This record gives sequence, C-alpha cells and structure tokens, in this order.
Amino acid sequence: MSNALIFPELDWKREGAIHRHAPAERAGAFSCLDGEQTEREFVQTIFTLAWATKARRMLETGVAGGLTTRALAQAARLNGGIVTAVEMESRFLREDFFEPEYRDVIRKVQAESLDFLATTNDEFDFVFLDTDLYCRARELELLLERRLLTPGALVCVHDASRFRDEYVHDGSREFWTAFEAMRPRIAAVIEIHLSRGLLILQPLRP
Ligand SMILES: C[S@@+](CC[C@H](N)C(=O)[O-])C[C@H]1O[C@@H](n2cnc3c(N)ncnc32)[C@H](O)[C@@H]1O
Repeated sequence: MSNALIFPELDWKREGAIHRHAPAERAGAFSCLDGEQTEREFVQTIFTLAWATKARRMLETGVAGGLTTRALAQAARLNGGIVTAVEMESRFLREDFFEPEYRDVIRKVQAESLDFLATTNDEFDFVFLDTDLYCRARELELLLERRLLTPGALVCVHDASRFRDEYVHDGSREFWTAFEAMRPRIAAVIEIHLSRGLLILQPLRP
C-alpha cells in the first residue's frame, strides 16, 4: 500500500492565480481546483495523516465541492472507517452529490457545525475543520470540552496561515487569539503558514 498522489486526473491550477496571498505564503508552489476547495498539497497531507494514523472515525466540517471529503473517504475505506461530513448547505449533500463508490463511507449531516458538535455524542480519531473561519475556534473548543476526540486523535485546521490577516479579514486573527488560549490543552502542533495554511494538532490526553 502506498500513499500515491490522489486525484491526479483533476484540472489543477496554480493556487497563487486563484487566491490572494502574502509573498511569504509562497502560493505559487501550491495547486488548487477553484476558490472553495483545499489545496492539492493539503488534501494529500490530510489523506496521508488519516490513513497513516489508521483513523476510522473521521469528521469533516465544511464540505462544499467535497474534495477533502472524498480524500478522507478514501482513507476511511483503506482503514475500515467512515467520514462524518457536516455541511449546512443542502446542495452539497444531495443524494447524488458523491459518486457511488464513496457513498457507503460518507455519512452526510446537514447542520450548523456548532450545533452538531454541541449535541453529538460521537467520538472521532481524525478531524478536518474547514467551515467559516469564525466558527473554527469554537468547533475546536467543543471537541475538547465535550471530549469528542479519542486518545491520540489529530485535528487539522485549514486556512490557518498567520499571514492571512495581512490581506484578508475573515476571522484568522480571531482564530489565532482563541487558539492561543487553548494551547495548554494541546500536546503537539505543526503550524504550516504556507499557502492558505494548515494547522495540525494533537490535544493532550484527558
Ligand atoms: C471552504 S468550503 C469547504 C471545502 C472542502 N472542505 C474542500 O476542501 O473540498 C466551506 C464550506 O463550509 C460550509 N460552512 C460554513 N460554515 C459552516 C457551518 N457553521 N456549519 C456547517 N457548514 C458550514 C459552507 O457552506 C461551505 O460549503
């Protein structure tokens, strides 16, 4: 088994041509499909992390075109697991939205992510947060406060570049302020401030 590049057939574009970026983010070295979906390099990263950690219970908040949902679904199939995909817009959760080969490994939930996380009793081994940036710190707080993460679980937060606040005011500063307050509850962090950014963290075991 290898972590071969997923989705090689898609029409990848230069990230720097699609989104605004700070020079330090080196967006020219990244690829994306469109304005909504995650960069190819980060899709590959989360797929590999989910697969290599043998995560079975995965959660994604924010589906849109479903690129990352499909990547996690591939990891879920390899690991014998399932992806819970939470999205507030019904058009991204239509019956035929995902190809037949993904349907048995994606559990679609139409909900506001904060409502879902405030009420679910599910536990997760791997989480990818990709909703509105203003929601993501609270999503992480709920995962920690409500003990929804299994021991050793990984959480990835997209759009976490620290340079982002220099050119787009979409909640990244607020996210980082809230995240610093949560840091004592985090065991390990990888901060990638390239392109739109990816934060990979492992909470302390309760
Ligand atoms: C950036 S897109 C997700 C892209 C996707 N993860 C990918 O990389 O292919 C964000 C999505 O989050 C959804 N969203 C935003 N805030 C949300 C919330 N509070 N709860 C649920 N979905 C939300 C939006 O409707 C949108 O479809």
